[in-house]
Amino acid sequence: MHIHKGERLWLTFAFIMMAVFLAVITTAAVVDGVVPPSRVQTIDPTKVSQTPPFDKPGLRKVSDGEYEAYYVARIFSFSPDTITVPAGAHVTFYVTSADVEHGFSIPETGVNTMVTPGWVSSVAHTFRTPGTFLLICNEYCGAGHQTMAAKVVVE
Ligand code: CUA
Repeated sequence: MHIHKGERLWLTFAFIMMAVFLAVITTAAVVDGVVPPSRVQTIDPTKVSQTPPFDKPGLRKVSDGEYEAYYVARIFSFSPDTITVPAGAHVTFYVTSADVEHGFSIPETGVNTMVTPGWVSSVAHTFRTPGTFLLICNEYCGAGHQTMAAKVVVE
């Protein structure tokens, strides 16, 4: 098979770049212990319901307009089911799973993260306009996956 000289040059370049990227990612993961940026800390997934603050999931007011929301995801629900914040609230979500891999997504906002057992994922958003936002699981987690949802009410 004849491969044009220019094409061979670009193919070689592409394969070298792939090898370099793979080496960088592998080195970062193995040597530096780098994890995706939304995973902030580890947790024992078998002791979620005894581990503060996830033993009492819910909304905490930090200061005016600043909130933290602690969520536990388990098949097939989120706890808390509904949180209510005033318009303009900046909410930092902390989410962990008590069983399998879940998703944590509020469509039309920047909130979208995987929820991996053993990790606490964190993502933040400022809710500027009033309304009811649906919070959904967007990782397939079993037979009831499509029913796994909660609400964020912005007043
Ligand atoms: Cu939880 Cu899908």
